[in-house]
Amino acid sequence: MWVIEEVHLLNLSVAASRQGQGLGAAVMRWLLLDCTTRGAQSMLLEVRPSNRVALHLYARFGFEHVGTRKAYYPAAGQTREDALVLRVRLPVPGALVLA
Ligand SMILES: CC(C)(COP(=O)(O)OP(=O)(O)OC[C@H]1O[C@@H](n2cnc3c(N)ncnc32)[C@H](O)[C@@H]1OP(=O)(O)O)[C@@H](O)C(=O)NCCC(=O)NCCS
Repeated sequence: MWVIEEVHLLNLSVAASRQGQGLGAAVMRWLLLDCTTRGAQSMLLEVRPSNRVALHLYARFGFEHVGTRKAYYPAAGQTREDALVLRVRLPVPGALVLA
């Protein structure tokens, strides 16, 4: 979802049977490159603090914790889980190098 120069990533999912094969990283690499090329200055997303795999993936691509949304996600029973808000600043087009 584009909001002026910021892209809000609403969902990133790999089929359970194909997880852990590099597809999530490949999609993220393509998304960051595409958004940078199209002039986005940053990308924002929410993630559960308990989602270690996703946190690892986002950290690899330079996302940093910039805020917390309290009780954002439904959790077990009637409880709720916070969302960590992560953001990465994107380079100017042409200067992007992704490992
Ligand atoms: C999070 C998700 C998109 C990652 O996609 P993926 O294709 O499984 O991830 P990749 O294979 O590209 O691996 C990315 C990194 O996570 C690590 N990783 C992947 N699966 C892992 C696992 N089960 N346990 C520990 N580390 C794992 C990989 O080693 C890799 O680390 P590296 O960059 O240091 O090598 C995917 O697991 C998923 O769809 N999960 C359910 C939905 C979800 O939680 N989406 C994110 C919501 S914010």
